[in-house]
Amino acid sequence: MYNSKIIGMGMYVPENVVTNDDLTDIMDTSHDWIVERTGIQERRHIKKGDGNTTATMGVKAAKIAIERAQIDKKDIDLILFATLSPDYYFPGSGVIVQQHLEIPNCPAMDIRNQCSGFIYALSTADQFIKTGMYENILIIGSENHSGGLDMTTRGRGVSVIFGDGAGAVVLSRTEDTDKCILSTHLHSEGQFAEELALIGPSTNRWVPEIIEANDPMDISYYPNMNGQLVFKNAVVRFSEVIMEGLQQNQMTPDQIDMLIPHQANLRISQFIQRKFGLSDDQVYNNIMRYGNTTAGSIPIALTEAWEEDKIKSGDLVVLAAFGSGFTWGSALIRW
Ligand code: UT7
Repeated sequence: MYNSKIIGMGMYVPENVVTNDDLTDIMDTSHDWIVERTGIQERRHIKKGDGNTTATMGVKAAKIAIERAQIDKKDIDLILFATLSPDYYFPGSGVIVQQHLEIPNCPAMDIRNQCSGFIYALSTADQFIKTGMYENILIIGSENHSGGLDMTTRGRGVSVIFGDGAGAVVLSRTEDTDKCILSTHLHSEGQFAEELALIGPSTNRWVPEIIEANDPMDISYYPNMNGQLVFKNAVVRFSEVIMEGLQQNQMTPDQIDMLIPHQANLRISQFIQRKFGLSDDQVYNNIMRYGNTTAGSIPIALTEAWEEDKIKSGDLVVLAAFGSGFTWGSALIRW
Protein backbone atom coordinates (compact mmCIF):
# COMPACT_ATOMS: atom_id res chain seq x y z
CA MET A 1 0.00 0.00 0.00
CA TYR A 2 1.39 3.36 -1.03
CA ASN A 3 0.75 6.84 0.29
CA SER A 4 1.01 10.19 -1.43
CA LYS A 5 2.82 13.42 -0.63
CA ILE A 6 3.11 16.86 -2.16
CA ILE A 7 6.62 17.27 -3.56
CA GLY A 8 6.28 20.56 -5.47
CA MET A 9 4.02 23.60 -5.52
CA GLY A 10 3.61 26.65 -7.71
CA MET A 11 1.26 29.56 -8.31
CA TYR A 12 0.57 32.25 -10.86
CA VAL A 13 -1.67 35.32 -10.81
CA PRO A 14 -2.06 37.89 -13.60
CA GLU A 15 -0.08 41.11 -13.17
CA ASN A 16 -3.12 43.35 -13.47
CA VAL A 17 -4.16 44.47 -9.96
CA VAL A 18 -7.75 45.67 -9.51
CA THR A 19 -8.27 47.52 -6.25
CA ASN A 20 -11.59 48.11 -4.53
CA ASP A 21 -11.29 51.77 -5.49
CA ASP A 22 -10.94 50.73 -9.15
CA LEU A 23 -14.31 48.98 -8.81
CA THR A 24 -15.99 52.11 -7.43
CA ASP A 25 -15.34 53.71 -10.84
CA ILE A 26 -17.61 51.20 -12.58
CA MET A 27 -20.23 50.21 -9.98
CA ASP A 28 -21.90 51.49 -6.84
CA THR A 29 -19.71 49.99 -4.15
CA SER A 30 -17.05 51.12 -1.69
CA HIS A 31 -13.67 50.00 -0.39
CA ASP A 32 -15.09 49.95 3.14
CA TRP A 33 -18.10 47.77 2.25
CA ILE A 34 -15.92 45.22 0.47
CA VAL A 35 -13.29 45.08 3.23
CA GLU A 36 -15.85 44.91 6.02
CA ARG A 37 -17.94 42.13 4.41
CA THR A 38 -15.19 40.09 2.73
CA GLY A 39 -11.70 41.25 3.78
CA ILE A 40 -10.74 41.74 0.13
CA GLN A 41 -8.51 44.74 -0.67
CA GLU A 42 -7.60 43.88 -4.26
CA ARG A 43 -7.72 41.04 -6.77
CA ARG A 44 -6.02 40.17 -10.06
CA HIS A 45 -7.87 40.27 -13.38
CA ILE A 46 -6.63 38.97 -16.70
CA LYS A 47 -6.14 41.90 -19.07
CA LYS A 48 -7.28 41.47 -22.65
CA GLY A 49 -4.25 40.56 -24.72
CA ASP A 50 -1.99 39.51 -21.83
CA GLY A 51 -2.09 35.91 -23.08
CA ASN A 52 -3.58 34.47 -19.91
CA THR A 53 -6.33 31.87 -19.97
CA THR A 54 -7.45 29.42 -17.32
CA ALA A 55 -5.23 26.75 -18.87
CA THR A 56 -2.16 28.93 -19.52
CA MET A 57 -2.20 30.31 -15.98
CA GLY A 58 -2.35 26.68 -14.86
CA VAL A 59 0.63 25.90 -17.07
CA LYS A 60 2.66 28.70 -15.46
CA ALA A 61 1.85 27.44 -11.96
CA ALA A 62 2.50 23.83 -13.04
CA LYS A 63 5.95 24.61 -14.46
CA ILE A 64 7.03 26.01 -11.10
CA ALA A 65 5.56 23.04 -9.22
CA ILE A 66 7.28 20.53 -11.54
CA GLU A 67 10.61 22.34 -11.23
CA ARG A 68 10.37 22.36 -7.43
CA ALA A 69 9.36 18.68 -7.45
CA GLN A 70 12.60 17.99 -9.32
CA ILE A 71 10.98 15.48 -11.62
CA ASP A 72 10.98 15.29 -15.39
CA LYS A 73 7.60 16.37 -16.79
CA LYS A 74 7.66 13.12 -18.80
CA ASP A 75 7.27 11.29 -15.47
CA ILE A 76 3.85 12.80 -14.87
CA ASP A 77 1.30 9.98 -15.10
CA LEU A 78 -1.90 12.02 -14.85
CA ILE A 79 -3.03 15.64 -15.07
CA LEU A 80 -6.03 16.65 -12.96
CA PHE A 81 -7.41 20.10 -13.70
CA ALA A 82 -9.95 21.67 -11.34
CA THR A 83 -11.89 24.66 -12.64
CA LEU A 84 -15.34 26.13 -13.14
CA SER A 85 -14.07 28.37 -15.93
CA PRO A 86 -12.42 26.12 -18.53
CA ASP A 87 -10.94 27.64 -21.69
CA TYR A 88 -13.53 25.85 -23.80
CA TYR A 89 -16.96 24.38 -23.20
CA PHE A 90 -15.19 21.22 -24.36
CA PRO A 91 -12.60 19.76 -24.29
CA GLY A 92 -11.48 20.34 -20.71
CA SER A 93 -8.47 22.46 -19.78
CA GLY A 94 -6.37 19.48 -18.65
CA VAL A 95 -5.62 18.55 -22.25
CA ILE A 96 -4.68 22.17 -23.06
CA VAL A 97 -2.15 22.04 -20.22
CA GLN A 98 -0.86 18.74 -21.61
CA GLN A 99 -0.44 20.36 -25.02
CA HIS A 100 1.53 23.30 -23.55
CA LEU A 101 3.69 21.10 -21.35
CA GLU A 102 4.32 18.77 -24.31
CA ILE A 103 3.59 15.60 -22.37
CA PRO A 104 2.51 13.28 -25.17
CA ASN A 105 0.10 10.64 -23.89
CA CYS A 106 -0.66 10.83 -20.20
CA PRO A 107 -4.36 11.02 -19.26
CA ALA A 108 -5.77 14.46 -18.47
CA MET A 109 -9.01 14.94 -16.61
CA ASP A 110 -11.04 17.96 -15.54
CA ILE A 111 -12.73 18.09 -12.14
CA ARG A 112 -15.94 20.15 -11.91
CA ASN A 113 -16.32 20.95 -8.24
CA GLN A 114 -15.88 24.72 -8.08
CA CYS A 115 -14.50 26.01 -4.75
CA SER A 116 -13.93 22.44 -3.55
CA GLY A 117 -12.36 21.44 -6.86
CA PHE A 118 -8.80 21.33 -5.61
CA ILE A 119 -9.69 19.15 -2.60
CA TYR A 120 -11.70 16.82 -4.86
CA ALA A 121 -8.73 16.63 -7.25
CA LEU A 122 -6.28 16.03 -4.41
CA SER A 123 -8.46 13.24 -3.04
CA THR A 124 -8.83 11.67 -6.51
CA ALA A 125 -5.08 11.80 -7.03
CA ASP A 126 -4.45 10.32 -3.58
CA GLN A 127 -6.67 7.33 -4.45
CA PHE A 128 -4.88 6.74 -7.78
CA ILE A 129 -1.56 6.74 -5.95
CA LYS A 130 -2.79 4.52 -3.11
CA THR A 131 -3.97 1.85 -5.56
CA GLY A 132 -0.55 1.88 -7.20
CA MET A 133 -1.93 2.95 -10.58
CA TYR A 134 0.06 6.20 -10.83
CA GLU A 135 3.23 7.57 -9.29
CA ASN A 136 3.29 11.30 -10.10
CA ILE A 137 0.15 13.37 -10.57
CA LEU A 138 0.01 17.03 -11.56
CA ILE A 139 -2.96 18.78 -9.92
CA ILE A 140 -3.97 22.25 -11.01
CA GLY A 141 -6.66 24.60 -9.76
CA SER A 142 -7.19 27.63 -11.98
CA GLU A 143 -9.87 30.21 -12.70
CA ASN A 144 -10.55 33.01 -15.13
CA HIS A 145 -13.50 34.71 -13.46
CA SER A 146 -13.02 38.29 -14.51
CA GLY A 147 -14.20 38.03 -18.11
CA GLY A 148 -17.55 36.52 -17.11
CA LEU A 149 -18.68 38.72 -14.24
CA ASP A 150 -21.42 41.34 -14.27
CA MET A 151 -19.23 44.37 -13.55
CA THR A 152 -22.20 46.73 -13.08
CA THR A 153 -23.99 47.63 -9.86
CA ARG A 154 -26.48 44.85 -10.62
CA GLY A 155 -23.74 42.24 -10.23
CA ARG A 156 -21.80 43.80 -7.33
CA GLY A 157 -22.84 41.16 -4.78
CA VAL A 158 -20.83 38.61 -6.78
CA SER A 159 -18.33 40.46 -8.94
CA VAL A 160 -16.35 42.22 -6.19
CA ILE A 161 -15.46 38.87 -4.64
CA PHE A 162 -13.85 36.93 -7.44
CA GLY A 163 -10.33 37.07 -8.87
CA ASP A 164 -8.21 35.19 -11.40
CA GLY A 165 -5.26 32.92 -10.69
CA ALA A 166 -3.86 29.42 -10.59
CA GLY A 167 -2.04 27.07 -8.26
CA ALA A 168 -0.54 23.65 -8.86
CA VAL A 169 1.01 20.78 -6.94
CA VAL A 170 2.81 17.58 -7.85
CA LEU A 171 1.54 14.68 -5.76
CA SER A 172 3.83 11.67 -5.66
CA ARG A 173 4.02 8.15 -4.33
CA THR A 174 5.73 7.66 -1.00
CA GLU A 175 6.20 4.66 1.20
CA ASP A 176 6.37 6.92 4.23
CA THR A 177 3.33 6.22 6.42
CA ASP A 178 3.93 9.28 8.57
CA LYS A 179 4.62 12.25 6.27
CA CYS A 180 1.88 11.94 3.68
CA ILE A 181 -1.77 12.73 3.01
CA LEU A 182 -3.45 11.22 6.06
CA SER A 183 -7.02 11.38 4.82
CA THR A 184 -9.42 13.28 2.60
CA HIS A 185 -13.15 13.85 3.13
CA LEU A 186 -15.63 14.85 0.44
CA HIS A 187 -19.31 15.83 0.51
CA SER A 188 -21.99 17.30 -1.74
CA GLU A 189 -25.55 18.47 -1.31
CA GLY A 190 -27.13 18.84 -4.75
CA GLN A 191 -30.39 20.26 -3.46
CA PHE A 192 -28.58 23.62 -3.40
CA ALA A 193 -27.17 23.36 -6.93
CA GLU A 194 -28.85 26.53 -8.19
CA GLU A 195 -27.97 28.67 -5.14
CA LEU A 196 -24.51 29.39 -6.53
CA ALA A 197 -24.48 28.71 -10.22
CA LEU A 198 -24.07 29.92 -13.76
CA ILE A 199 -27.22 28.62 -15.45
CA GLY A 200 -26.72 29.72 -19.02
CA PRO A 201 -25.09 29.24 -21.47
CA SER A 202 -25.54 25.53 -20.93
CA THR A 203 -27.22 22.58 -22.55
CA ASN A 204 -30.40 23.78 -20.88
CA ARG A 205 -29.91 27.18 -22.38
CA TRP A 206 -27.83 27.07 -25.51
CA VAL A 207 -26.16 30.21 -26.83
CA PRO A 208 -28.35 30.47 -29.97
CA GLU A 209 -31.42 30.39 -27.71
CA ILE A 210 -30.03 33.24 -25.58
CA ILE A 211 -29.18 35.28 -28.65
CA GLU A 212 -32.56 34.64 -30.24
CA ALA A 213 -34.45 35.66 -27.07
CA ASN A 214 -32.50 38.95 -27.09
CA ASP A 215 -33.83 39.65 -23.60
CA PRO A 216 -32.04 42.54 -21.85
CA MET A 217 -33.40 41.25 -18.51
CA ASP A 218 -31.76 37.84 -19.03
CA ILE A 219 -28.72 37.67 -16.79
CA SER A 220 -28.53 33.85 -16.66
CA TYR A 221 -25.11 33.99 -18.29
CA TYR A 222 -23.65 35.65 -15.17
CA PRO A 223 -22.89 33.72 -11.99
CA ASN A 224 -25.70 33.95 -9.49
CA MET A 225 -25.21 33.53 -5.74
CA ASN A 226 -27.52 33.45 -2.73
CA GLY A 227 -24.73 34.96 -0.63
CA GLN A 228 -26.30 34.69 2.80
CA LEU A 229 -27.38 31.06 2.32
CA VAL A 230 -23.91 30.16 1.04
CA PHE A 231 -22.31 31.93 4.00
CA LYS A 232 -24.52 30.16 6.57
CA ASN A 233 -23.85 26.73 5.05
CA ALA A 234 -20.15 27.43 4.63
CA VAL A 235 -19.44 28.06 8.31
CA VAL A 236 -21.27 24.88 9.32
CA ARG A 237 -19.76 22.62 6.65
CA PHE A 238 -16.20 23.94 7.04
CA SER A 239 -16.35 23.11 10.76
CA GLU A 240 -17.94 19.70 10.23
CA VAL A 241 -15.53 18.49 7.59
CA ILE A 242 -12.44 19.63 9.51
CA MET A 243 -13.77 17.84 12.61
CA GLU A 244 -14.51 14.74 10.53
CA GLY A 245 -10.87 14.62 9.40
CA LEU A 246 -9.53 15.16 12.91
CA GLN A 247 -11.77 12.46 14.37
CA GLN A 248 -10.86 9.93 11.70
CA ASN A 249 -7.20 10.42 12.63
CA GLN A 250 -7.90 10.48 16.39
CA MET A 251 -6.72 14.07 16.58
CA THR A 252 -7.98 17.23 18.23
CA PRO A 253 -8.06 20.85 16.96
CA ASP A 254 -5.06 21.82 19.12
CA GLN A 255 -2.91 19.51 16.97
CA ILE A 256 -3.47 21.62 13.83
CA ASP A 257 -0.30 23.50 12.89
CA MET A 258 -1.62 25.19 9.76
CA LEU A 259 -5.17 25.54 8.46
CA ILE A 260 -5.48 26.64 4.85
CA PRO A 261 -9.14 27.35 4.16
CA HIS A 262 -10.53 28.02 0.70
CA GLN A 263 -10.40 31.81 0.42
CA ALA A 264 -14.12 32.58 0.13
CA ASN A 265 -14.50 35.33 2.69
CA LEU A 266 -12.17 36.47 5.48
CA ARG A 267 -15.15 36.43 7.86
CA ILE A 268 -15.67 32.73 7.17
CA SER A 269 -11.97 31.99 7.82
CA GLN A 270 -12.03 34.03 11.04
CA PHE A 271 -15.15 32.21 12.23
CA ILE A 272 -13.45 28.85 11.71
CA GLN A 273 -10.27 30.14 13.38
CA ARG A 274 -12.24 31.16 16.48
CA LYS A 275 -14.25 27.93 16.51
CA PHE A 276 -11.09 25.80 16.56
CA GLY A 277 -9.19 28.13 18.89
CA LEU A 278 -6.38 28.75 16.39
CA SER A 279 -3.99 31.71 16.46
CA ASP A 280 -3.42 34.07 13.51
CA ASP A 281 -0.20 32.16 12.71
CA GLN A 282 -2.12 28.90 12.37
CA VAL A 283 -4.52 30.06 9.64
CA TYR A 284 -3.26 31.23 6.27
CA ASN A 285 -5.27 33.92 4.49
CA ASN A 286 -4.46 35.80 1.30
CA ILE A 287 -7.96 36.73 0.16
CA MET A 288 -6.97 40.35 0.88
CA ARG A 289 -4.69 40.29 -2.18
CA TYR A 290 -6.40 37.90 -4.58
CA GLY A 291 -10.11 37.71 -3.74
CA ASN A 292 -11.79 34.35 -4.24
CA THR A 293 -9.98 32.39 -6.94
CA THR A 294 -12.22 29.33 -6.43
CA ALA A 295 -10.35 26.16 -7.48
CA GLY A 296 -7.11 28.17 -7.51
CA SER A 297 -7.41 29.48 -3.96
CA ILE A 298 -6.08 26.57 -1.90
CA PRO A 299 -3.05 25.71 -4.08
CA ILE A 300 -2.20 29.43 -4.31
CA ALA A 301 -2.44 29.83 -0.53
CA LEU A 302 -0.56 26.58 0.10
CA THR A 303 2.25 27.70 -2.18
CA GLU A 304 2.51 31.10 -0.53
CA ALA A 305 2.41 29.64 2.98
CA TRP A 306 5.22 27.25 2.05
CA GLU A 307 7.24 30.02 0.33
CA GLU A 308 6.88 32.15 3.47
CA ASP A 309 8.23 29.26 5.54
CA LYS A 310 4.99 28.89 7.45
CA ILE A 311 4.80 25.13 6.86
CA LYS A 312 7.52 22.97 8.37
CA SER A 313 8.39 19.31 8.18
CA GLY A 314 6.20 17.34 10.58
CA ASP A 315 3.40 19.96 10.68
CA LEU A 316 -0.22 18.91 10.54
CA VAL A 317 -1.63 20.90 7.61
CA VAL A 318 -5.39 20.96 7.14
CA LEU A 319 -7.01 22.07 3.89
CA ALA A 320 -10.75 22.74 3.77
CA ALA A 321 -13.18 24.11 1.21
CA PHE A 322 -16.86 24.81 0.65
CA GLY A 323 -18.69 26.14 -2.38
CA SER A 324 -21.02 25.76 -5.31
CA GLY A 325 -22.84 22.46 -5.61
CA PHE A 326 -22.93 22.68 -2.64
CA THR A 327 -19.71 20.72 -2.35
CA TRP A 328 -17.20 20.67 0.47
CA GLY A 329 -14.20 18.73 1.64
CA SER A 330 -11.05 18.57 3.71
CA ALA A 331 -7.60 17.03 3.55
CA LEU A 332 -5.27 16.31 6.47
CA ILE A 333 -1.59 16.25 5.56
CA ARG A 334 1.40 15.43 7.74
CA TRP A 335 4.06 17.58 6.08
O1 UT7 B 1 -16.40 30.54 -2.71
C1 UT7 B 1 -17.73 30.21 -2.92
C2 UT7 B 1 -18.49 30.36 -1.72
N1 UT7 B 1 -18.90 31.74 -1.56
C3 UT7 B 1 -19.00 32.23 -0.37
O2 UT7 B 1 -18.66 31.61 0.60
C4 UT7 B 1 -19.64 33.59 -0.24
C5 UT7 B 1 -20.53 33.60 0.96
N2 UT7 B 1 -21.27 34.85 1.10
C6 UT7 B 1 -20.67 36.02 1.40
O3 UT7 B 1 -19.47 36.07 1.52
C7 UT7 B 1 -21.54 37.22 1.64
O4 UT7 B 1 -22.89 36.83 1.59
C8 UT7 B 1 -21.31 38.36 0.61
C9 UT7 B 1 -19.95 39.00 0.84
C10 UT7 B 1 -21.41 37.85 -0.80
C11 UT7 B 1 -22.37 39.46 0.78
O5 UT7 B 1 -22.32 39.95 2.10
P1 UT7 B 1 -23.67 40.06 2.93
O6 UT7 B 1 -23.31 40.61 4.24
O7 UT7 B 1 -24.35 38.72 2.91
O8 UT7 B 1 -24.48 41.13 2.12
P2 UT7 B 1 -25.93 41.01 1.44
O9 UT7 B 1 -25.86 40.22 0.19
O10 UT7 B 1 -26.92 40.61 2.46
O11 UT7 B 1 -26.20 42.50 1.06
C12 UT7 B 1 -26.33 43.53 2.07
C13 UT7 B 1 -26.49 44.85 1.39
C14 UT7 B 1 -27.57 44.86 0.31
O12 UT7 B 1 -28.18 46.14 0.33
P3 UT7 B 1 -29.60 46.35 1.08
O13 UT7 B 1 -30.55 45.44 0.39
O14 UT7 B 1 -29.35 45.97 2.51
O15 UT7 B 1 -29.86 47.79 0.88
C15 UT7 B 1 -26.80 44.72 -0.98
O16 UT7 B 1 -27.47 45.29 -2.09
O17 UT7 B 1 -25.28 45.21 0.71
C16 UT7 B 1 -25.56 45.50 -0.67
N3 UT7 B 1 -24.41 45.09 -1.46
C17 UT7 B 1 -23.36 45.88 -1.69
N4 UT7 B 1 -23.11 47.15 -1.34
C18 UT7 B 1 -21.93 47.67 -1.74
C19 UT7 B 1 -24.18 43.87 -2.04
N5 UT7 B 1 -22.99 43.89 -2.66
C20 UT7 B 1 -22.46 45.12 -2.47
C21 UT7 B 1 -21.26 45.75 -2.85
N6 UT7 B 1 -21.03 47.01 -2.49
N7 UT7 B 1 -20.33 45.09 -3.59
